[in-house]
Order: sequence, then structure tokens, then C-alpha cells
Amino acid sequence: MKKIVLTGAAGRLGSYLREPLSKMADELLSTDIADAPAKLYPGESWAQADLAKMDDVAPLLEGADMVVHFGAIVDEVPFEEMLGPNFVGSYNIWEAAHKHGVKRVIYSSSIHAVGMYPKTERIGTDVAHRPDTFYGLAKCFTEDLGRMYWEKRGLESVHLRILSAAQVTNTRALGSWLSYDDLIQLVTRAIDTPIVGFSIIYGVSNNDRVPVDNTKAAFLGYRPRDNAEEFAEKIMAEAPSADPQDAGQMCHGGPFASIPLGQSALSQMNIVDDRKED
Ligand SMILES: NC(=O)c1ccc[n+]([C@@H]2O[C@H](COP(=O)([O-])OP(=O)(O)OC[C@H]3O[C@@H](n4cnc5c(N)ncnc54)[C@H](O)[C@@H]3O)[C@@H](O)[C@H]2O)c1
Repeated sequence: MKKIVLTGAAGRLGSYLREPLSKMADELLSTDIADAPAKLYPGESWAQADLAKMDDVAPLLEGADMVVHFGAIVDEVPFEEMLGPNFVGSYNIWEAAHKHGVKRVIYSSSIHAVGMYPKTERIGTDVAHRPDTFYGLAKCFTEDLGRMYWEKRGLESVHLRILSAAQVTNTRALGSWLSYDDLIQLVTRAIDTPIVGFSIIYGVSNNDRVPVDNTKAAFLGYRPRDNAEEFAEKIMAEAPSADPQDAGQMCHGGPFASIPLGQSALSQMNIVDDRKED
């Protein structure tokens, strides 16, 4: 492959993806609204760009084979703030990809596209959208955008509905954890599978308590290896008592399911910023 473009490259997940992606193509163009990191990997270059601006986005995709689109606002915020980066930004990526003849977009979707389903329901990749926030709604919009560009314009996409790619600090994560190694395998399969059309797959590790079903995405060959059960004894011993009337505990979306629209859910979660150092 000649060129891969990675958006959201300055982010936490981007920090784990840059090195493996740099080895999968002659050129990796990493981009973010943030500054370049101190060190780039061999074959990697950096472009600062705002996803909400087509004039910024379009030139990046020239000559690209695939785009790994991870850039976004990653929390619940008022709709007006979400609109540019997460809605218009997705349109800009797909439209520029179409114009430049890009083969495939790999997109970091989220469990929050279906976050209002109760966790007692083991949901597959083909359930109807049921977003828990404006953040989740932007993921639904982008999944539908990807389906439409595949059906009308033949642009392939794989939508990775990541559950929680963060350290295991609560009982929800015993089911929802996606380790960084499994994330890398997931993105690699989304890139190297010869034909994907329009696909959706849950981004989750091989957890005993996994609450979603990837059977219909088995053709991608994603076989996660890590299992959050190794943390279960400690997490369960320290867990506060469960409240089955709390949507934040009952639903797949966790705290995003109970937070009022437009208000931060991440501020209620204990996310450890363990991004990979340069
Ligand atoms: N971390 C998780 O558990 C998780 C779960 C589900 C989905 N995701 C998705 O994975 C992706 C990466 O998440 P992350 O945890 O690394 O988040 P992050 O916040 O660390 O990274 C997101 C990056 O996007 C960039 N960005 C924001 N607005 C931008 C804009 N207007 N133009 C260009 N870049 C912009 C930010 O600067 C940041 O570097 C996101 O799309 C997120 O929705 C993450």
C-alpha cells in the first residue's frame, strides 16, 4: 500500500496506532488539529488540520489508499459544538475520499450509537441505532453516511463500534474493555481484509462478560486475545452497590446513557490517560 491517512493522530488511541500503521504503507500521513509530536516514525509525516474544514481535509487525502478516521470530539457536548468536528468532519472525510478515489475508510464508531439498549440484551451488529447522546448520534450519522457512500459510490468502510478502549477501572469495563493490542489487531484486519463493502464490528476484547455479538462480522477474522476477567476479582471487591434503576448502569452506553444531553459524561468516568509516549 502506498499511503494511509490517520486522523485523530494526537489522541490516545492514535498514539497506539501510529507506529503499526506506519509499517503498513510506504507513507503514513498523520493529522490532527493538535501540533505534531516531538518524534515521528519512519515513513510518517504530520499535517495540522481541522476536520470541520473541507479546505483543510481535502488535500490530505490526495493519493491515499485508505483513511483511518479517529479524529473527533470524544465526549458529550452541546450539539452546536459537536456539529463541526463529528458530523461535518465525517462528511468531509467521505466526500474527499470519494473525490480522490480512496478505496476504504476505517472509522472509530462507538457503542454509543446503540447505547440505550439494556445490557441484559446481547446486541448484534445489525440492531437498529439507539444513540444515547449527541455524541452517539454523530456515530449513527457517520455509519449511515458510510453505508450510503458504499451503496451509491462504491466507497468501502469498516465501522469499529469501540466499547471502551481504556484501563479497566469499573464493573462495566469487565465486559466492555478493548485492549490496545486488540485495537491494533482490529484496525489491521479492517485494512488487510480484501473485501469489506460496508461493515460494522464491535471493538471489544475477548472478555468473559462481553455484552455484544460479533458473529456477523466473523469474516473480518478479528480474534481478540485479551480478557478483562484478569481484573475481575479486584474490581468486584471494590465496586459500589449496583442500582438497576440507573440507566447508566443498566444500558450498554454506561454513564453516557444517563447523562443529560449536551453535558460531559467523561467527567464522571475515571479514564486514565495512558497514551503511548514518543
Ligand atoms: N477511547 C475509547 O474508549 C473510545 C470508545 C469508542 C469510540 N472511540 C472513538 O475513537 C476515536 C479516538 O478516541 P480517543 O480516545 O483517542 O480520543 P482523543 O480525544 O484522545 O483523540 C481524539 C483526537 O481528535 C482530535 N480532534 C478533535 N477535534 C478535531 C478537529 N476539529 N479536527 C481535527 N482533529 C480533531 C483531538 O485533537 C484528539 O487528538 C474517537 O473517534 C472516539 O469517538 C473511542
